[in-house]
Amino acid sequence: MAQKKSEVLMDLALRKSIFFPSAEIYGDSFSGFWDYGFYGTAIKNRILDAWRKDLVEKEGFVEIDGCQILPEKVFKASGHLDNFNDPLVQCLKCHALHRADSLLGEEFELTEGTPVERFDELIQKQKIKCPSCKGELGKTRKFNLMMGLDIGATGKLKGYLRPETCQNIFLNFSRIQKTMRKNLPFGIAQTGKCFRNEIAPRNSILRIREINQMEIEVFFNPFKINETENFKEIENFEVRVLLEGKKKEELIKAKDLVSKKIVSGKLIAYYLSKIQKFYEGLGIPKEKLRFREVDSEERAFYAKEGWDFEVETSLGWIELVANNYRTDYDLKGHSKVSSANLKIKEEDQEFFPHVYEMSAGVDRTLYVLLELALKEEEKKGEKRLYLSLSPKVAPFVAGIFPLVSKDGLYEKAKELYDNLLEYKISVFFDSKGSIGKRYARIDEIGVSFAITFDFDSLKDQTVTLRERDSTEQKRVSINSLPELLWKLSTGKTTFKEI
Ligand code: GLY
Repeated sequence: MAQKKSEVLMDLALRKSIFFPSAEIYGDSFSGFWDYGFYGTAIKNRILDAWRKDLVEKEGFVEIDGCQILPEKVFKASGHLDNFNDPLVQCLKCHALHRADSLLGEEFELTEGTPVERFDELIQKQKIKCPSCKGELGKTRKFNLMMGLDIGATGKLKGYLRPETCQNIFLNFSRIQKTMRKNLPFGIAQTGKCFRNEIAPRNSILRIREINQMEIEVFFNPFKINETENFKEIENFEVRVLLEGKKKEELIKAKDLVSKKIVSGKLIAYYLSKIQKFYEGLGIPKEKLRFREVDSEERAFYAKEGWDFEVETSLGWIELVANNYRTDYDLKGHSKVSSANLKIKEEDQEFFPHVYEMSAGVDRTLYVLLELALKEEEKKGEKRLYLSLSPKVAPFVAGIFPLVSKDGLYEKAKELYDNLLEYKISVFFDSKGSIGKRYARIDEIGVSFAITFDFDSLKDQTVTLRERDSTEQKRVSINSLPELLWKLSTGKTTFKEI
């Protein structure tokens, strides 16, 4: 691809309204907020469906849907009021605000724990000036990333938009555990929005202020971290890791991560394997993914052990999932501030359950899947741009097309479309323009297959099934379509095998 992939994707995203700046008719100053159009929403929903099936339902976890606004006390207890900060500097001349760590770049080891004095020292030493006007910079200060709200008519009730979706999970843990009659270990999942007042939003939907998350918090008995029931299932699975201080990724079997004490226990190795398997299943090649071990300086304030699941793109390695061993940090904190008893009694032992978290960014997952799927090819002198998305996350499994809109073809094709919707197969209907143009349009947005209803279909009850990547076509019976498309969309069969 002559142009950088991120630029080609941005162009496609805007042209097809996959994603685009929010409130764009008012100009571009409201940065860090992005909307999804029809295709983007469809892809996002399919990612959420795949995640829900593989990582929530199959694991026997429960999903909740909590409020996005929570009272101030929650964030006092969670530590976000005191610790959820970025280093901020202001230009003394033009008053522009900048993130101190971004100004200094990657060559220094700057992390969440770096004191503000260190930033000032480096800014002086490196003679860093304001990038906007070359003016002198003031002193670095910590800037809290949460967005506050004054609630009610008096405005005296202080609340915050949640900075991570998981806080509702910790608040509801005891209620859910009791009413769902769950024993440890068990997981609570949640999808939804969280909000961070990013100082410098950038790279379209990668660094934003209103974020879609899909999070799972697994609660477990810390004395039983090595009693993971299904560990055998993945013990030989090779996890691709970049260990602290190493330059190269390596493949380490799940059981060796445990025996070599690279992770705190089997439970962690089990879920690292599950996350990798899930993303590989969505089409990310093994050599493009890794779990980067997060060192103590860089780790979030609540984490004892951290593994950032990252994928390589044209913009570098992008973190998709933060995998954190949060210990009893959260339940202990909420218990202390609220006075609620959040302990569990098991075999005469009373303790705060420990938490292992898999916190995934939906927007980032979508971006990365799209960028990796972007393909350009030239066939018989004609250029073709398409998204080679896995049928598991394609916006639609198939486009349904009447060859022409006359002689009853439109009505019959529409009948087929309605029938496939009854089977919950995600399909898309289009009757406008030449058939070649319709193929090209769905290729560009990553629809996996096209089904064309033609004159022969009226006679023999068959249709043409065209595969996006190879552009090959096969004739299949209309009756077989619900099962066939379901099998194709779940990876239970391939086009070649038909
Ligand atoms: N819950 C962890 C995060 O939002 O990064």
